[in-house]
Amino acid sequence: MQTVQDAPALRAAIRGWRSKGQTVGFVPTMGNLHAGHQSLIRLARARTDRVVASVFVNPTQFGPNEDFDRYPRTLVQDQAALTAENCDLLFAPDVATMYPFGAQRSVSLHVPQITEILDGAHRPGHFDGVATVVCKLFNLVQPDVAVFGQKDFQQLKVIERLVRDLSLPVKVISAPTFRADDGLALSSRNQYLSAAERARAPLIHDTLRRMRELAGQGHPWQVVEQMAASRLARAGFLPDYTVIRCAEDLAEPAEGQRDGLVALIAARLGHTRLIDNLLFD
Ligand code: PAF
Repeated sequence: MQTVQDAPALRAAIRGWRSKGQTVGFVPTMGNLHAGHQSLIRLARARTDRVVASVFVNPTQFGPNEDFDRYPRTLVQDQAALTAENCDLLFAPDVATMYPFGAQRSVSLHVPQITEILDGAHRPGHFDGVATVVCKLFNLVQPDVAVFGQKDFQQLKVIERLVRDLSLPVKVISAPTFRADDGLALSSRNQYLSAAERARAPLIHDTLRRMRELAGQGHPWQVVEQMAASRLARAGFLPDYTVIRCAEDLAEPAEGQRDGLVALIAARLGHTRLIDNLLFD
């Protein structure tokens, strides 16, 4: 697998493939790759002739008091993990390549409405940073297909919206959440958890399942949401939200709506913020 750090080298490699009529799949990441990321690479691999992954810890999607500085940077291990999945090329740019005028002076994209709720409300500006960097990466890689995990469900919806609204010529594929045996969704941030917190963390997935079960029994979604928040709080979590939403656009469901729903949770456990979700269908 080739690793490139600048745009000309990336474009040259992709031009070579395109000249042979090959298709390109893309998996953007912030590195510290785990089995969940590897499953995204496999999905891209199955759909396109060539696969590009990026590793870039994007400063514009972190708030001032968030974990940008301590976010794990493990490029050598990431290269090994990508090689094992037959990834063709790793794009690992620095901040100056992605933000030639500086991260603070960059053009910034804002996807309205859907970015202003849930994680967007708790992490102001987060999705502007995500939309901006994903659009920049799409412009650089120009993939046919890009793969995103369902674990970051709101991010997936923001990117689908971005692609459609800006007519970007890329097909967005969503990949199922990759879970540990006890149900915890894999995330690079799980490693911030102490052993005791890690043992409690699967309660998030368990609570999502309980939400699905109770909603399926016909309990009003507001009651189900409240139950979930109390359950997590009793176990020492600080929930940011425990909600049931329309999977299509994350709008509040209509009274009695049963189809097309998703439950979403964001909660702090000690110093770690965890997110997860579960589709009801
Ligand atoms: O999901 C992530 O790892 C990041 O938000 C992404 C999509 C790579 C943008 O920085």
